[in-house]
Amino acid sequence: GGQFDFIVVSNRLPVDRCSPEDTGCEDGWRRSPGGLVTALAPMMTKTDGAWVGWHGAPDETVKPFSHGGIDLVPVHLSTADIELFYEGFSNATLWPLYHDVIAPPEFHRTWWDSYRKVNRRFADAVVHHAAEGATVWVQDYQLQLVPKMLREARPDLKIGFFNHIPFPPPEIFAQLPWRRAIIDGLLGADLVGFQRSSDAGNFMRSARRFLGASVKQQQVHVKGNDGDTTHIARAQAFPISIDVKQISELARKPEVIERARQIRRDLGNPKTILLGVDRLDYTKGIRHRLKAYEELLADGKVTVQDATLIQVASPSRERVEQYRLLREEVEGTVGHINGTYDTMESTAVRYLHHSYPIEEMVALYLAADVMLVTALRDGMNLVAKEYVTARTNNDGALVLSEFAGAADQLKQALLMNPHDIDGLKDTIMKAVNMQPAEASRRMRAMRKQILDHDVDLWSSDFLAALAEKVVRD
Ligand code: G6P
Repeated sequence: GGQFDFIVVSNRLPVDRCSPEDTGCEDGWRRSPGGLVTALAPMMTKTDGAWVGWHGAPDETVKPFSHGGIDLVPVHLSTADIELFYEGFSNATLWPLYHDVIAPPEFHRTWWDSYRKVNRRFADAVVHHAAEGATVWVQDYQLQLVPKMLREARPDLKIGFFNHIPFPPPEIFAQLPWRRAIIDGLLGADLVGFQRSSDAGNFMRSARRFLGASVKQQQVHVKGNDGDTTHIARAQAFPISIDVKQISELARKPEVIERARQIRRDLGNPKTILLGVDRLDYTKGIRHRLKAYEELLADGKVTVQDATLIQVASPSRERVEQYRLLREEVEGTVGHINGTYDTMESTAVRYLHHSYPIEEMVALYLAADVMLVTALRDGMNLVAKEYVTARTNNDGALVLSEFAGAADQLKQALLMNPHDIDGLKDTIMKAVNMQPAEASRRMRAMRKQILDHDVDLWSSDFLAALAEKVVRD
């Protein structure tokens, strides 16, 4: 124990199991995609850092190891933990509850017991590996009890927490039978970060309402039994971003540009390619998007020859019932649309239930004239930021839901309410028919915003705020 000065904790470690023939596979592991690990890797090597998380293999115990210069501390999850903690409490209770109850959250005491038990296991791993006075950064909704567990065991630690998904308003959070324990768990942190300032506001209102905490500006005063403040937790927005350098470099690579041309050719060179890229999740508004597109075809506003929709839906949480139901619904709808509107030469929806490497994703972004991000609720939505970053020629249009955190930064997108199908249809038509000058003006402004705020800045801002001394007023 006691060896690392900086520890990141997340449900998943930033590696996946792989076989030797996969690219980037080293000793049976490869780095998983995503900006978070890219942003934190330099910190990990500079300070004596480690990452604590689940390695993705049920029932397997894996000893700490090092991969790509990062020290990894695997946490064991049994088949039962995966069912109760991960699929159950994390993804069938918290996930829908925190996303505006788009699907009904289920409340089961056995799931909660498992959530507590597994959070304790993650906290124990940190306690065991943290040096005196170490900084610990806990990630996301699967681990909300960890900050308090750490503070109790190790008051010497600096504890940060970042919630990658929305935080619901107290009126919805109120449903959770364990609402007090969750708020209390989070308040163990010195700094609780959120995607949007509205999420931070929701959290502070819940802290006041359910724990009687007093909130002054962004400081939540946690009271002891005598009514005195024992600890101050700060709550603040830190909108996450992407690895801008990686995406822009890929977008300028001749092979990627050629691949984008090939994608267009393979689809029969339609005038307009519309693109959706999501995990197959009910929060993403895929059904609303398909409905709008189908009605545009039915109204004759577009034809399959001039506007094709590519929908990449990457497999996600396939053992959770709501995800199975969604897959059936989406695939039924796609089959219906294609059966009705396809011709021998042209397809309406090119539906792909796969995940692709980032090079292929960037080629898709380059191939697409209109990006559709129609989430009903989304913490941030990094696809929107990736699309904008990939459009190095400042062309293309982004249709973006107001309910995605990215709407706070991408103000020049075509913002819309995905529940309003007529509004969504009008916005899609506006994107399809947008004049190059307007498209370029919007895209330039959005690109500047993202180029100035990449994921490195996000993590350094958060860690700088965590290191600050709190001034009591
Ligand atoms: C969201 C969550 C992450 C999660 C990811 C993939 O982005 O904020 O915490 O890792 O979805 O979901 P999964 O359940 O496969 O980890």
